[in-house]
Amino acid sequence: MSIILAIESSCDDTSAAVLQDNRVLSNVIASQKVHEQYGGVVPELASRAHQQNIIPVVDAAIRQAGIGKEDIDAVGFTRGPGLLGSLLVGVSFAKSFATALGKPLIEVNHLQAHVLSHFIYRGEPMPQFPFICLLVSGGHTQILLLRSHFDIECLGTTIDDAAGEAIDKAAKIMDLGYPGGPVIDRLAKEGNADAYHFATPHIEGYNYSFSGIKTSFLYFLRDRLKEDPDFIEKHKADLCASIQKTIVGFLLKKAERAAIDHKVRQVAIAGGVSANSLLRSELQRICQKHHWQAFVPPFAFCTDNAAMVGIASYYKYQQGEYADISLPPYTR
Ligand code: KG4
Ligand code: ZN
Repeated sequence: MSIILAIESSCDDTSAAVLQDNRVLSNVIASQKVHEQYGGVVPELASRAHQQNIIPVVDAAIRQAGIGKEDIDAVGFTRGPGLLGSLLVGVSFAKSFATALGKPLIEVNHLQAHVLSHFIYRGEPMPQFPFICLLVSGGHTQILLLRSHFDIECLGTTIDDAAGEAIDKAAKIMDLGYPGGPVIDRLAKEGNADAYHFATPHIEGYNYSFSGIKTSFLYFLRDRLKEDPDFIEKHKADLCASIQKTIVGFLLKKAERAAIDHKVRQVAIAGGVSANSLLRSELQRICQKHHWQAFVPPFAFCTDNAAMVGIASYYKYQQGEYADISLPPYTR
């Protein structure tokens, strides 16, 4: 039996979790509201907010787990990729805490953590290897082939913007606030997804590109606004539904192709955008069509959280893969 304290601070969420083996005892997340007024994450403000949040968040995670500091067997932390100033807060805290406790440190890759969130115990079936995972977040868009917890091949990636970034930018164009993903998801439910058509680019293999979709959305709206300054306001729901359908369709088409080509019968989604209701339902539909199994994470483990860092740490702890205290964070 192992008790692991995990820390995540790669972007704008300060999170700490306690796991007993593969079960989550607590998962505390402090989201930073300060960025909303700027329409995106301001790195300098993010690291400052992490500094304010880290101790109360860790304290709450330990208390909610019903353990004492002395019960912790190892401290896991996100080493990268992410914003340097943000990472430094979590990395430094984890190092000091582990040193003070005299316990080992475990470094975790943020993207691997998103994917491994599917192995958090929930009393439900977990993916079996090999499986395909579509990792979609604000910073990343990748099609991954997992042969084991740590044998992960990247089959495709975005050559420019990430899917979440494209969704957030579309929301920004419509003045829907930041982050726009959840707002687009909500408004899209009342709209007609076939109202407008936005072309998707032809990109080699399993790679993606989202900058063209964003630009065609921008130009489309610019032209319509010339005819009717209230165009966005009047057609908000249809615009959200249409752009969401375009992005989700593009994402899943390539993931489906990757599963067919690699003869894999299980497909998972992970990362912040996997909270999107259309992506979740469309994945289920495609998997049903092929008689594949779909794996959709619970909402709490979609966007950034420390429980996913905890599960990745758990597998490394079992292998005795500890990190040296001198390890610096990495941004990419
Ligand atoms: O994984 P995450 O929390 O942070 C990164 O590692 O980037 O992902 C954040 C992204 C944002 O772009 C946000 O708009 C998007 O996930 N997102 C959503 C939804 N919830 C969060 N996108 C679409 N629909 C949602 N319901
Ligand atoms: Zn993330």
